[in-house]
Amino acid sequence: MAIFISNSPAETEEIAQRLAEQLVAGSTLALQGELGSGKTLFTQSLVAGLNSDATVTSPTFTIVHEYHGGRLPVYHFDFFRLENRESARRLGLEDYFCGDGVSVVEWADRFPELIPEQARWISFEIKSEYQRIITLSDQSHENPRA
Ligand SMILES: Nc1ncnc2c1ncn2[C@@H]1O[C@H](COP(=O)(O)OP(=O)(O)O)[C@@H](O)[C@H]1O
Ligand SMILES: [Mg+2]
Repeated sequence: MAIFISNSPAETEEIAQRLAEQLVAGSTLALQGELGSGKTLFTQSLVAGLNSDATVTSPTFTIVHEYHGGRLPVYHFDFFRLENRESARRLGLEDYFCGDGVSVVEWADRFPELIPEQARWISFEIKSEYQRIITLSDQSHENPRA
């Protein structure tokens, strides 16, 4: 486990960009943390860190966004508005998780049973207006709710 204290959006970007260098095809990142804690900013920085200049926006309504052009494609999910496990199943998550790219899931803790066991969990905690605590689990951390 690794714990980072970020004191600015720029520091969060740096943490994400460093992580981006370690990602391989099939990497899955399960992000959890309240609204405004930095999950989308972190995802934007990962995509930038993979040298893609794709524009990252929250996939709240379309459920999955794909970003290409970088070292690896990124599949960006947001479980925030997913109503139930059935609508999640319809996304065909397994194909993404086992695919040729990196999968990033915001609000992964809403349906932790859908997250593969080898996923890396990253939690974001708001400490103050500009301070976040970012905790990265080890590579094959177990599902926290399993
Ligand atoms: N240290 C920090 N790390 C990340 N974001 C921060 C930080 N300090 C302030 N912020 C702000 O918090 C907000 C995070 O928003 P966002 O990434 O959309 O959160 P989430 O996706 O978790 O809802 C942004 O407006 C960002 O500028
Ligand atoms: Mg978000």
